[in-house]
Amino acid sequence: MKPNPIFPSILSTGFFELQHKLQQFGEAGIDFIHLDVMDGHFVDNLSFGPSAVRAIKARFPFKMDSHLMVSNPEKMIPKFIESGSDWISFHLEASRDVTENIATIRQAGKGAGLVLNPDTDPRRVFPFLKAIDYLLLMSVYPGYGGQTFIPQTLDRVRIIKNEIESQQSPCLIQVDGGINVSIVTQLLSAGADLFVIGTSLYGAEDIPGTVEGYLRTIEGVTS
Ligand code: DX5
Ligand code: ZN
Repeated sequence: MKPNPIFPSILSTGFFELQHKLQQFGEAGIDFIHLDVMDGHFVDNLSFGPSAVRAIKARFPFKMDSHLMVSNPEKMIPKFIESGSDWISFHLEASRDVTENIATIRQAGKGAGLVLNPDTDPRRVFPFLKAIDYLLLMSVYPGYGGQTFIPQTLDRVRIIKNEIESQQSPCLIQVDGGINVSIVTQLLSAGADLFVIGTSLYGAEDIPGTVEGYLRTIEGVTS
């Protein structure tokens, strides 16, 4: 069963308001929280570690979607499995052995995702589309929230969607970066399924109302 397609990113958190924001995401019917994990090497920013997954899951019913922007996914994947992360995605560009990383995640009973930077040829993931649960297409260069959506992402979604359909794969397409309500409409039409949303949701006055607006838009496009 497909989860709530809105995956809030908490990258822009000031930490002290995080509990209140997570309560609002709960009231909004969010299923997954997207955790942007950065190691200061694969991207030039540092963010969360496995303890953030543990802390959130200890207090909230959310599933956790850990996006590993790290140079050594082979070493980090086991730590996020052990922390209780439900889904784990890692960058093709940082992987020494993609098949092995997918198997490690899947053998632990977690959702396995592969991530592509905006300038990585989407055809490079074709061999893995039957082995992963979701493909994360970055619509900004990873490292920071609040960036502008890269419009070429729409064609990349179409390319991947066509290949998923021709392989009859159940793989979902997740997009991350610079997304707002009007961009969600375009991404849905291109074939995307899941939307990582940071700035345009985390900072909203009325989070449940904003999520409701996204879901109404999605309903309108898909019905
Ligand atoms: C970039 C991050 C951001 C974040 C979403 O590395 O992955 O894309 O999750 O943030 P916004 O919605 O502010 O772009
Ligand atoms: Zn992310």
